[in-house]
Amino acid sequence: MLDLNHAKATLDAHYDLAPSLEKAEATKDIYDKMDRVVSPADWAIFAPYVIEINRLKKERNAFILAHNYMTPEIYHGIADFVGDSLQLAIKATEVEEDVIVQCGVHFMAETSKILNPSKTVLMPDMAAGCSLAESITAEGVAEMRAKYPGAPVVSYVNTTAEVKAASDICCTSSNAVQIVDAMESDTVIMTPDQFLAQNVANQSKKKVVFWEGSCIVHELYTPEDLRAYRELQPDTKIIAHPECTPAVVAEADFTGSTSGIINWVETNRPEEVMLVTECSMAANISDSLPDVNFAKPCNMCPYMKKITLEKILYALHSMEGAVEVEPAMAEKAKLAVTRMIDLSKQLNV
Ligand code: 13P
Ligand code: SF4
Repeated sequence: MLDLNHAKATLDAHYDLAPSLEKAEATKDIYDKMDRVVSPADWAIFAPYVIEINRLKKERNAFILAHNYMTPEIYHGIADFVGDSLQLAIKATEVEEDVIVQCGVHFMAETSKILNPSKTVLMPDMAAGCSLAESITAEGVAEMRAKYPGAPVVSYVNTTAEVKAASDICCTSSNAVQIVDAMESDTVIMTPDQFLAQNVANQSKKKVVFWEGSCIVHELYTPEDLRAYRELQPDTKIIAHPECTPAVVAEADFTGSTSGIINWVETNRPEEVMLVTECSMAANISDSLPDVNFAKPCNMCPYMKKITLEKILYALHSMEGAVEVEPAMAEKAKLAVTRMIDLSKQLNV
């Protein structure tokens, strides 16, 4: 468990992290990527951390993998690669550096470790969990297998290594329909997201049975809210993540993974768009799309928001927070993840 007071004291003893207008000016090229969403005063606070992290990651031979839900100062300031869960998992197989710093949630770091057992994978805050990953254990998977004998288990990557190890194959929000359709059995078990499973079932010929987990961020959206917004602003494009309920997805103009959403907005450039997902998504792309107006509301993921510049710098400084997965379990979990990656590449999704 990260002791934040100790981390702060350690960083203060080793680095000059005082807000600095000079350091803000020296990193103007980075700030330009987010100056519509980060104030100059905030950048003067972030710049000293960004400088130290970018210096230290070279010293440690580290590579920073960041999810699309990271805040702009992480996404644009220090990440070496940003993407959705599938892209991060694929990139994790290609990293050459000795150390991976995972800016995202714990299951993402576990996935990187499973794919790279010999590398050090650092998690800046181990408490960055996920309501979906916490909703099921290997016993839950066994329960589903007993209920639906012979049906393959497709587990969302938002699961622990233990659950992945108990599954036949993984999926992400960008390949779930194709992975389920590629299963030989007529009935497919999906864990742990009931809404992703129902959304997949609506597009698949398979009978999809599912575990009843949910994402605490996406389950909050209601079709009534979206309809009310559309009445106010009829031209607004509504773009949803498939962790939303099927009723919300039915109201959307497009549904896709976090990178699918970014690609859709970049390609279609609507005058006004509402991203029915986590708040940092709009913040990260608004500077490069000045002609697009991003409508509120959005919801914050309290787990993703545990990752901060301060914690990332401390992880690189102390090399604490290394994720470990028991080797035999990691081997089994790796099978489920690599099957997904291979099938995804084969199916071109
Ligand atoms: P993506 O795979 O679409 O990035 O989703 C991950 C996630 O946790 C969304 O809540
Ligand atoms: Fe998990 Fe939802 Fe947060 Fe994604 S947004 S990490 S699914 S709790």
